[in-house]
Amino acid sequence: MAKRLCVNIDHIATIREARKVREPEPVTAAMLAELAGCHGITVHLRQDRRHINDSDVHLLRHTVSSSLNLEMAVVPAMIAFAKQVLPNMVTLVPETPNEITTEGGLNVEAKLAEVTDAVQSLRSSGILVSLFIEAKIEQVKAARKAGADYVEFHTGAYANAFELRREDEIELELSKLQDQITFAIKSGLKVNAGHGLNYRNIHRIAELNGIEELNIGHSIVSRAALVGMERAVKEMLSLI
Ligand code: PXP
Repeated sequence: MAKRLCVNIDHIATIREARKVREPEPVTAAMLAELAGCHGITVHLRQDRRHINDSDVHLLRHTVSSSLNLEMAVVPAMIAFAKQVLPNMVTLVPETPNEITTEGGLNVEAKLAEVTDAVQSLRSSGILVSLFIEAKIEQVKAARKAGADYVEFHTGAYANAFELRREDEIELELSKLQDQITFAIKSGLKVNAGHGLNYRNIHRIAELNGIEELNIGHSIVSRAALVGMERAVKEMLSLI
């Protein structure tokens, strides 16, 4: 089964926020990603609003015609926001104030009651709910108990092992992922995956069986900035 690609465009907003101006506009990036054939757009509305803001999410809801996946922390204000905007999917993630990016998966087992309430509330508004978790059996079981539709397995440990060329660790992380993907599907969950995936390490993840969607952000936005550089410079040269 071919995997769907959802493009995380948070870092288009990161570039915008570096200058606090209007460009680059995340909605434009979303439209171009859709024109290129992606299957969905993902954004993380962080509580500190460091990149994507509320207005971006509203605009994306009106313009994204594929599928909009909103990543957010499990806090009442975010749940209320999602129920107002109605993305196609909400992915609940852990969030700590000064982290550079989402560190680790959500500890659903430890926060089962809180996560279950959030899942029920979102599902009652017709939103699909995914839980971003580590590939661990206790987390998959907890996700099932919480009533989630999907789990998204954190691929960060695999990506780190790949970067460090630790062959044994790469194989270990891949087998943990495959085991938990299979277990999750048997338990009635659907499976997504993401974090740290790039043009070098994606092939081994693409070979795993059972993943429906891959959420990829940093590497796609980085490559877009580089492959677009030549054209951008030529366009400016023609103007001067
Ligand atoms: N999936 C989730 C739940 C995330 O939080 C992120 C990062 O925002 C990603 C996927 C994408 O990770 P990356 O930017 O490393 O591709």
